[in-house]
Order: sequence, then C-alpha cells, then structure tokens
Amino acid sequence: VVGGVQHLVADLGLAEAGRHQIRLAEHEMPGLMALRAEMGPAQPLRGARITGSLHMTVQTAVLIETLTALGAEVRWASCNIFSTQDEAAAAVVVGSGTPEAPAGVPVFAWKGETLAEYWWCTDTALDWSREGHDGPNMLLDDGGDATLLVHNGVSAEAAGEVAGPEAAENAEHAVVLETLRRSLAADGQRFTKLAQGLKGVTEETTTGVHRLVEMARDGRLLFPAINVNDSVTKSKFDNTYGCRHSLVDGLNRATDVLIGGKVAVVCGYGDVGKGCAESLRGQGARVVVTEVDPICALQAAMEGYQVTTLEDVLPTADIVVTTTGCKDVVTADHMAAMKDKAIVANIGHFDNEIDMAGLARVEGVQRTEIKPQVHEWVFPGSGERPEHSVIVLSEGRLMNLGNATGHPSFVMSCSFSNQVIAQVELFTRTDEYATAVHVLPKHLDEKVARLHLDALGVRLTELSASQASYLGVPVEGPFKPEAYRY
Ligand code: NAI
Repeated sequence: VVGGVQHLVADLGLAEAGRHQIRLAEHEMPGLMALRAEMGPAQPLRGARITGSLHMTVQTAVLIETLTALGAEVRWASCNIFSTQDEAAAAVVVGSGTPEAPAGVPVFAWKGETLAEYWWCTDTALDWSREGHDGPNMLLDDGGDATLLVHNGVSAEAAGEVAGPEAAENAEHAVVLETLRRSLAADGQRFTKLAQGLKGVTEETTTGVHRLVEMARDGRLLFPAINVNDSVTKSKFDNTYGCRHSLVDGLNRATDVLIGGKVAVVCGYGDVGKGCAESLRGQGARVVVTEVDPICALQAAMEGYQVTTLEDVLPTADIVVTTTGCKDVVTADHMAAMKDKAIVANIGHFDNEIDMAGLARVEGVQRTEIKPQVHEWVFPGSGERPEHSVIVLSEGRLMNLGNATGHPSFVMSCSFSNQVIAQVELFTRTDEYATAVHVLPKHLDEKVARLHLDALGVRLTELSASQASYLGVPVEGPFKPEAYRY
C-alpha cells in the first residue's frame, strides 16, 4: 500500500528508472502531450473510473498519466503475463509529484505472472470497492480479457452457477472459471452491478475487436464499444510500423541470430504481417509469406515475397513468425518437421497460434530454458533423423512484448491518442453511442495524424477553396470517403 492505495508490482525501487524512461517517452509521444495541453484544463474525464487491461509498458504509463491529467481515476492490469516493464509499473504507482502523475495509482502487473496471478490482477483492477464503487464506469481493453470477464461474470450470475473445472477448454479457461466461481460465491450480483455502471469499452487490438463484433452479432454485448484498432492511425501504423520495429527487436534480444540470408516465414500478411515481412527483408532475410486470403496473398506476391504453404517451406525455414490472430497455425507436427534450431515466434495477440500444448505432448520432447522467455524444445532422434530442436520465444505469446519492450513510443502515441479521444467520446457523449461496436469519426482520425506531423517536420499542402470544391471535400478535411482503404 502506497499513500493508502493498494497495488501489486515487482519492485517499487525501480520507480526512478521508470520515471526517467517515461520522461523520454513523453518527448516521443507528441499526440498524448498535445491532448494533455488541449483537454487538460477542461478535465473531460473528471468522474471517469477507468479499469485498464493493457500491456503495462513505459508507453502505457504515459497513457495512464494522460488519462489522469484529463481528470480520470484508473486501476490497471497488464493484458499479457510477460509484457509488463516492471520499472514502468513501479513509476506509475509511485507517481512523480505532479498533478498528472499523483502517487498511488493502483497498478496490478509484473513481468512473468502465472495465469492465476494474471486473472487475479484483471479481477482486482475491476474491483473498485476500496474507492467505494461497484466497479469502473469505463473499460480500456487490449485483447478483450477484461470485457470477457465482465460478460462471463454477468452470464454466470444470471445462471446462478459456474461450469465445473471439467468444462474448461484449457488451463487458462480453468483459471477464468475458478475466478468466476470465487466471485459468485462472494457476491452473486457483482458483475451484474458492475456492467450496469459501465458506459462502455474502448478496445485496442484486432483480436479484441473480433470478440466484440461476435458478441454484438449474437446480441450478447452489454455496453457500447469503440473499436480503436480500426482507426487508420492505429492499425495502419501500430500494427504495421510498430511490428516492423519490434519484431526484429524481439528476435535480436532473444537469440541474436543473424537474420540476413536466412529463410524467414511470415504466416499472415495483414497489417501486422506486412510490417513483419518488411523488417525481415530489411535485415536481408529471404521472406516467405503464407496466407488464406487471396487479396493479401496477391499483395505479398506483388511486394516480391514468395507465397506458399507452411508445409512447403518447412524444410528450409530458419525463422517462423505467426501474425494471423488465428489458431493452430503452427502445429506440433510442423515444429517436429522444422530445421534444427529453427526459431518459432508469435506476434499475434493470443498464444493459440502456435500449438504449445501439442508440443508439450510430443513423446520424448525435452524443454530447456535458455533464458527467461527463450526455450529450446528438443525432439528425440527417430529413424533417419537425429535429435533436433526448435527455439520457441515467449512460450508462444506475443514475442515483441515478451522478448523486447513492445512498440516504440512514437507509434504508440498514435494508438493511445485514439484511445484517449475514444475514452473522452464515450464518457462525455455516452447517449450518442448505442450498444454496438463503433469506430471514431474520420475527422478525429485525421486529428491524431495531424498531432504527429510537427515532430517529424512534415509540412502539409493546403487545398485551395476551388480545389476543395473540385474534389468535393472541405478545405480542412475529412479528405477521404469512409470506404477509402489507405
Ligand atoms: P489482420 O486481420 O489484418 O491480419 C491477419 C492476417 O492473417 C489476415 O490477412 C488473414 O487472412 C491471415 N490469416 C488468418 N488465418 C491464417 C492462417 N491460418 N494462415 C495464414 N494466414 C492467415 O490482423 P492484424 O491487425 O494484422 O493482427 C494480427 C494479430 O496481431 C491479432 O491477433 C492482433 O490482435 C495482433 N496484434 C499484435 C500486435 C503486437 O504488438 N504484437 C500489434 C497489433 C496487432
């Protein structure tokens, strides 16, 4: 407890180191700093109680302190067991003595949580009883775990029961069921009251948006959602240029293997896959892409990448990266057929892209920890083939946050400026957002881009009035129709 506020982080002694990094990150996050200057005086988030479930990094610290600078109270957990930067978590708890960074922001996150600890942190970030409330009135989610817990909690309370451990689909699901069972025993209406108090959620990533869209389609969505991912200034920047930076960062920190000359396979050529393929090619790798979508496959081919199936390229692949948001993309059989010491990594949101459970079940397979978040899995020799191994990063979880420190500040400033604007929109204009999944209007997307131009020395050309009328757009924008794809 710091200043009367409960928190759980690795080591508060890291706070000073975290604060230095936050200070440098602020310089690289012009969008967030401009929003503080523009909106801070009006305090649009006064009264907002935001539960955040998003990687507790240095950049997220700048996001949290922007939300508090706009008047919000927050409680925070990470959305991945490996992604917390402990110095950032400590710095947020300790604060900096300035109004935007008060002491005692409750953070529940550390690098290397167990699954049980992870869901405890998420649950605790949703628990506002210490502040005297049933729950948050806003969610800020990345991947949708906080949103999922609330929805599953409401369903369990309506049914009056939680399925037994035998119903669990996997180890993680068992932990979620146990969390719900404990909550139901303590208060049979907790999540129902909590959901009633929620004005909505702003969701950061592709996978979380998939979940929201499914819930809305099935009539299960309980509150409005803003899809931050599909702001152009999010998915076409963070997913692509962020991964272009942090994929190679993760590979280098984990293995320091020379990428040049190697055969690197990128599974999926969406926004993330495009950035990953470009960065591997930039390092001199021979990049091969796999896709299910003919449009994305054709795009990859037009960029000069070989496009084929994973099975086809397995015997020659040195590095395999999954970027699909799909499941079972790399199976245990695939890994058993790979070259000796092939590197296998996932940069998609969840760990089901690589079948880690299947790998652990392979007869005679041995797992050796090379260092945290880097494991060698040795397959026993059989028939013609002698003993061989694959190197798996971050146990199949997102490797750019597990093995490195995620995306750099500048690109996260674009993403998080959308988050802040979406929080202000939903909190202050709640009645204008029905219970559905929305995207931010284009003029706000363009605003986020504008906030990042000066820092890069970009000078925009202005339309004349007659040019604008010729194109049929306002002089000040928006410049493109909704369907424009950038
Ligand atoms: P996207 O939908 O643009 O791209 C995914 C691509 O994978 C699609 O083109 C799809 O056709 C393809 N695909 C699906 N199943 C496949 C399969 N079995 N084999 C080959 N290709 C397949 O999605 P986006 O935005 O690229 O995101 C991908 C994942 O990365 C999501 O889980 C998202 O949440 C996550 N993400 C991770 C980030 C990070 O920092 N690690 C940053 C942003 C997103």
